[in-house]
Amino acid sequence: MKVLVTGAKGMLGTDLCARLGKQHEVIPLDLPELDVTETASVFARLEATRPEMVIHCAAYTHVDGCERDPAQAFRVNSFGTWNVASACQKIDAALTYISTDFVFDGEKGEPYDEFDKTNPISVYGRSKLAGEEVIRALLSRYLIIRSAWLFGVHGKNFVRTVLHRAKEEDTVKVVADQMGCPTFTVDLAEAVAGLLESPLFGIYHITNSGACSWAQFAQEILRQAGLSAQVVPIAAAEWDSPTRRPKDSRLRHLALEMQGRDNLRFWQEALADFLGIYRDRF
Ligand SMILES: NC(=O)c1ccc[n+]([C@@H]2O[C@H](COP(=O)([O-])OP(=O)(O)OC[C@H]3O[C@@H](n4cnc5c(N)ncnc54)[C@H](OP(=O)(O)O)[C@@H]3O)[C@@H](O)[C@H]2O)c1
Repeated sequence: MKVLVTGAKGMLGTDLCARLGKQHEVIPLDLPELDVTETASVFARLEATRPEMVIHCAAYTHVDGCERDPAQAFRVNSFGTWNVASACQKIDAALTYISTDFVFDGEKGEPYDEFDKTNPISVYGRSKLAGEEVIRALLSRYLIIRSAWLFGVHGKNFVRTVLHRAKEEDTVKVVADQMGCPTFTVDLAEAVAGLLESPLFGIYHITNSGACSWAQFAQEILRQAGLSAQVVPIAAAEWDSPTRRPKDSRLRHLALEMQGRDNLRFWQEALADFLGIYRDRF
């Protein structure tokens, strides 16, 4: 299959292109060759290359940046997705959109499944949800894949931040009252590749198995990396950020469960693989 990937140089995009390249003809695009906010350029690219599937990873992912500059968040995450979905409609391509646990408010008290009501509490979450909505309005052949707490070798992320802080300081302050599902980009890429074979379009939650707080995640990172720094748990309210984050955005993979495909490994095991690759780099 011919697959065009937007945001191909990003943390997930890089691993996704590597995985899909084993099986498919991949067209990797990112800034500056393809700016998803430029309507004419998005249409021209898709009409020239005629992919059967577009995987839309491009996004403005800096959550605090989105809060400070909502116009840019909606321009990239919502309008950009509107452009990509419209061009897919024109060339009759299917679309896979990578969305987020931030579409939920975090108040449910148990993991969210794909049938739960969304209610984002941040600009990033609202702008990504608007992307989902425009896809659902324009297309019938789409996969909306909500993932969370991504870590990978090819981008800035929580694991890398904790490792670097722990090398410089004896203690690392980490939020203890927010829960979620850490996810290795290599595992998400594998799951996305698998879903491209499914006849069932729609909304999917995909993360590594298991869940934890940020503080528990940091403790496991330090334990596995053999670093002696101590995690100092703090409340989210003490963290200096303009963004309201969901306090419990654990995702249940109900769509995968119903299809007998919920087989992602636990995040601790995925973390060990990540550290195997990244250990020499910090
Ligand atoms: N990171 C997470 O924890 C997480 C969790 C759930 C869902 N997601 C979603 O997963 C996807 C991939 O995330 P990621 O963490 O891999 O993000 P990332 O590393 O920030 O990758 C996003 C890519 O999109 C590019 N981009 C930004 N603006 C663009 C534009 N106007 N046109 C074209 N490309 C543009 C970025 O380029 P520059 O770097 O040059 O700006 C970057 O290469 C995103 O859709 C994100 O919303 C992420």
